[in-house]
Amino acid sequence: EKGGYDHFMLKEIHEQPRAIRDTLKGRISHAGDKVILDEIKMTTKEIQNIKRIVITACGTAYHAGLVGKYIIEQLVRIPVEVDIASEFRYRDPLIDEETLVVVVSQSGETADTLAALREARRRGARVVAITNVIASSVAREADDIIYTWAGPEISVASTKAYTTQLVAIYLLALYLAQERNTLAAGNIKEILNELKAIYSKAQEVLDGEQPIKDFAEKYCKHEDAFFIGRGLDYAVALEGSLKLKEISYIHAEAYAAGELKHGTLALIVENIPVIALATQQSLFEKMVSNIKEVKARDASVIALAMEGHTEVEKVADQVIYIPKTHQVLAPIITVIPLQLLAYYISVYRGCDVDKPRNLAKSVTVE
Ligand code: M6R
Repeated sequence: EKGGYDHFMLKEIHEQPRAIRDTLKGRISHAGDKVILDEIKMTTKEIQNIKRIVITACGTAYHAGLVGKYIIEQLVRIPVEVDIASEFRYRDPLIDEETLVVVVSQSGETADTLAALREARRRGARVVAITNVIASSVAREADDIIYTWAGPEISVASTKAYTTQLVAIYLLALYLAQERNTLAAGNIKEILNELKAIYSKAQEVLDGEQPIKDFAEKYCKHEDAFFIGRGLDYAVALEGSLKLKEISYIHAEAYAAGELKHGTLALIVENIPVIALATQQSLFEKMVSNIKEVKARDASVIALAMEGHTEVEKVADQVIYIPKTHQVLAPIITVIPLQLLAYYISVYRGCDVDKPRNLAKSVTVE
């Protein structure tokens, strides 16, 4: 049932190219210039009337939502707020008929996420659900559903659910951009073209896993690690750090790289592993400076950069390159080396990879 893999997590990591492709299937027009989301029943007029978007979710799904904020604000120019479902539901949220609420949940059964959905609907908001389970509670109660076609996810640590949630969020963002005319047709086509190719780039990352395995062996004895990034890379850093904590029990923190000087640098000491995400072209120089800052404290830096950005080799100790893609799509492939790193570290530490202590796959209680 593990398809020849040692753990469900590794199997599910390797299923990502297939899952991404399935989630895109039938949702891009033949000419490659339009998003087809028949499952969104809103009229163009209703879409044009949206004043605000609130994304709410827990854990990894929340991290997918954080990527959504950057993407939707950039492509659709609507203000987006992302909130943890257990916070949202208890804080008398500012939601009305002009708010679109997007709920993200792999299982569709997370108690807090479901309660947040109900709260949003009670206040008159329209709710779009992104979920992986057909006819789950979240799917049944939402107004519109975008299914991710990841297939069953068994490992407690979420991997293919996250990358397919990202795909669903990109499709939703491009769909909204299309209906609100916030992006030139050429730009939509360009991003869609890259999106169609992203699964093969995910496969390339998987095919090059050996160096990541070697880093895992090298770093598995550490008890602390830091993940830094800016913009979309910051959102991915949060997910990378959660993966590592969840299955290897290493204390890991993700920081927006610009925040280092505001306290975190005090924690950067000799040899501490710092995973520096530098895939965003527009922020690359800033990240290079942040890497220099931690190197000056003798941290051990693994950088992640897009192919061609070899300048990073001068500042980082090791570099993992991800295939070139449109910078807004980078999170889909940037997260994969981080999933593999967490996986192999967990294996080297002898942890129960698929069933980490104290955690359940689906949190149906508060
Ligand atoms: O089923 P859901 O997407 O609603 O689950 C949300 C979180 O419980 C889940 O993503 C959790 O954070 C994962 N174990 C992280 O790997």
